[in-house]
Amino acid sequence: MISILVISGSLRSNSLNSRLGRALHDVAEQNIRVDLAVLHDIPLYNGDVEQLSGIPKAVSALRERIKTADGLIIAMPEYNAGMPGVLKNALDWLTRPPKEMGPTFAGRPLALAGATPGGLGTALAQAGSLTVLRQLKVRLFPDHLRVSSANDRLGADGQPDAELAQQLNKWLQSYVEFIQS
Ligand code: FNR
Repeated sequence: MISILVISGSLRSNSLNSRLGRALHDVAEQNIRVDLAVLHDIPLYNGDVEQLSGIPKAVSALRERIKTADGLIIAMPEYNAGMPGVLKNALDWLTRPPKEMGPTFAGRPLALAGATPGGLGTALAQAGSLTVLRQLKVRLFPDHLRVSSANDRLGADGQPDAELAQQLNKWLQSYVEFIQS
């Protein structure tokens, strides 16, 4: 069994990116388990808080889920051509303290996905995130999943249309091959 964690970079209850995570769960073959993680409980990074109280429980819990998964997918909305603040904030916490950065990210297979009502499938946010992902030293799956016109292609519960379901299934399979390679 291959386990994959999808982090949704959106806090919105009706988020397209969370729906994309659920769609990936639904299209996964039986030997692949896809779970969705959301970032509602991650506080804003504050060095004073870290110094006084250490790493927040929600950050440690998310880190544990990342470490125990075989793969990590970031489902990233695009805000003003970049990564949303809540996602960058979570990644920043996850690199603290510095000794945790390596075991959490370095050399680990990470895939980028994104859904938008627009036409560019979050390509700019994904491209912009590469500087951060390089810093984290992840092993990046080169095929980035981009879902344009996602309002029309993902139902309210994340149900993808038939063409998208097939695309997601194929993409997930090749990401699993990448994880195992
Ligand atoms: C957006 N949106 C957006 N979309 C896009 O394709 N490129 C962009 O640069 C932006 N910029 C942007 C900025 C801000 C502040 C907001 C709130 C939104 C639209 C965005 O893709 C849309 O709201 C998605 O639905 C957000 O993802 P979730 O919350 O549905 O996962």
